[in-house]
Amino acid sequence: MGISFLHVNQTYKGARKKEIMVALEDICLDINEKNEFIAIVGKTGSGKSTLLQHMNGLILPTSGNVKIFDYVLTPKKNKNPKLKKIRKRVGYVFQFPEYQLFEETVLKDIMFAPLNFGFKREDAEKKSLEIMKLLGITDLKDKSPFNISGGQMRRVAIAGVLSYDPDIILLDEPTRGLDPKGALDIMDLFYKIHKETNKTIIMISHDMDIVYKYANRIIVLNDSKLVYDGNKIDLFKDDTYRINHLTKPEILKLIDYLNSKLNMNISYDHYDLDELLSYLEGGNNNE
Ligand SMILES: Nc1ncnc2c1ncn2[C@@H]1O[C@H](COP(=O)(O)OP(=O)(O)OP(=O)(O)O)[C@@H](O)[C@H]1O
Ligand SMILES: [Mg+2]
Repeated sequence: MGISFLHVNQTYKGARKKEIMVALEDICLDINEKNEFIAIVGKTGSGKSTLLQHMNGLILPTSGNVKIFDYVLTPKKNKNPKLKKIRKRVGYVFQFPEYQLFEETVLKDIMFAPLNFGFKREDAEKKSLEIMKLLGITDLKDKSPFNISGGQMRRVAIAGVLSYDPDIILLDEPTRGLDPKGALDIMDLFYKIHKETNKTIIMISHDMDIVYKYANRIIVLNDSKLVYDGNKIDLFKDDTYRINHLTKPEILKLIDYLNSKLNMNISYDHYDLDELLSYLEGGNNNE
């Protein structure tokens, strides 16, 4: 097993005296080490980032435990394993990438993690330049990471994680701040990495079109609780998505329209518009 949550609770002290804020409530969850592409969704403040932060030990549970590979993380008062070993294997791209960047130049920033994890300088540089090329940011190499746009910062933060080749990749809203084409390019890249290496990718997103296109499992949080964990088709078949404050992907609205107004019988297993259009052109619209 890659990552398991066993009855995890997370609470914070509130602003008022004795006030306790609940961020996660009794979360039980199993994630495979390989072959998963999971989207964590839910309205703002539902606990998504908190859940993700547990997956590489950025925070420790208030109660319960999180097992990451062979390491078991328990509340702070206990003895816990060294986090560096976990961090090397589980990469994390933050919701706000500007908090993740700190070096003088973009290249140095991307090389920081592989060097920190023991790569030789030569290898760290080679790998970083390779990833920068893949992400289309080679020309930013010598710039300060603070003098680039938000979308460029996000790419740099992503490169900083891909550069040390973690086994599992955690992404907190990876397409936020990117233009629509840039968002799809980045998602296509993650999808390619996932397909070619079977790496498990876990992303948080508010964009249901992206979630529906790329994820093969969806986890829904609502008010700190895990309320759905399963396949993407079933989530949108009934009211589950609506009562959990989610919107329906555009592609499914189109399929609903074609089925109800034009008497077609198209199933929900078409995940993006281009694929649906070529399917319709093929004349196979009575499934
Ligand atoms: N460090 C913290 N101190 C106090 N409360 C916190 C802290 N981190 C999170 N919380 C609280 O935990 C709850 C869940 O926050 P979290 O950031 O996980 O939500 P989210 O689902 O990621 O939201 P968003 O979609 O806005 O990013 C919120 O009520 C938040 O105020
Ligand atoms: Mg968040």
